[in-house]
Amino acid sequence: ADGDAAKGENEFKKCKACHMIVADDGTEIVKGGRTGPNLYGVVGRVAGSVEDFRYGKGLEDAAAAGFVWTPEAIAEYVVDPKAWLGGQGFEAQSKMTFKLRKGGEDVAAYLASLTGE
Ligand code: HEM
Repeated sequence: ADGDAAKGENEFKKCKACHMIVADDGTEIVKGGRTGPNLYGVVGRVAGSVEDFRYGKGLEDAAAAGFVWTPEAIAEYVVDPKAWLGGQGFEAQSKMTFKLRKGGEDVAAYLASLTGE
């Protein structure tokens, strides 16, 4: 992707009310809320696959289909999660009501950079 990870790190301030970033070894990269799933390693991960997180029907469908997050898909998803899910043929239902109007490429590049994706 062509996003700017440094800009995305700043943009992640809008996400951390609901999302933490905690590495597999427990290192807290971003202290965040628990409304949404941990986003560490989300790029390259099957959608809707954080254990013990109760996803909505749309991401459950995506998980069942084995859909894997790419930076491009995350950039599109965050603009309008519900519409994106429906557009992919998954159930148009999302528990993430937040919409990021612009800068999705940057935040996706930031998330990818954390795990070298
Ligand atoms: C899910 C990214 C902001 C609440 C997700 C997922 C991604 C994501 C990639 C899917 C994760 C997975 O499949 O495991 C982001 C980014 C944000 C952001 C980059 C900022 C630009 C927020 C905010 C909230 C929120 C502010 C709360 C108001 C949720 C919830 C889910 C979710 C509840 C689960 C959705 C479902 O089950 O349908 N987010 N998010 N997110 N996010 Fe966010």
